[in-house]
Amino acid sequence: MKVVLASSNKHKVQEINDIVKSIGLGVEFVLPPEGFDPEENGTTFEENSYIKAYEAWKLTKTWVLADDSGLCIDALGGKPGIFSARYAETPALRIERVLKELNGIEERKAHFTCAMTLINPQGEVEYKYQGICEGSIIKEARGTNGFGYDPIFLVKDDSRTMAELSEDEKNQISHRSVALRHVLEYLQKITK
Ligand code: IMP
Repeated sequence: MKVVLASSNKHKVQEINDIVKSIGLGVEFVLPPEGFDPEENGTTFEENSYIKAYEAWKLTKTWVLADDSGLCIDALGGKPGIFSARYAETPALRIERVLKELNGIEERKAHFTCAMTLINPQGEVEYKYQGICEGSIIKEARGTNGFGYDPIFLVKDDSRTMAELSEDEKNQISHRSVALRHVLEYLQKITK
């Protein structure tokens, strides 16, 4: 079964395909066609995920899966949240901004969120799920794996940051893998 993955972030597409491979399901994710350029103007992860999915569906009229993800920090009232990708110009500057905003704050609980929306060939929402990965924000970046905020995200019940986990280890626990496992379970059920 082919599903269009409504994302232009290659790292995420790679992560998702790795997770699918490790589970061993017959679902193949393919990139959206040229011209896919959704305006992410929703106010929640769920809304943005739907906007992306529906935009890709309009271009393909087939099964589409979209995700919208980001980092939410309790002490910052959930920020950067849906602005995670736009919080500053580069990943390093985004990390710098977060660390600055948390300067002097000891309560540093945070979580990554990933909202997934699956749209069927009729253009209806077939399934949606929001996966979460809990942790906290450390004071200095550590690790070189992953992407985005991984180097400052200390994984709950672990002494390592997300960027110090191997790809396989991240894929066991990440917000994206939690959401994706639910979507794949659902797809498996309806394609049986
Ligand atoms: P999206 O592409 O609109 O889902 O925005 C995701 C943004 O949230 C990325 O650009 C990252 O800054 C951040 N983000 C989402 N998932 C992760 C992750 O697994 N690790 C680190 N940062 C992430």
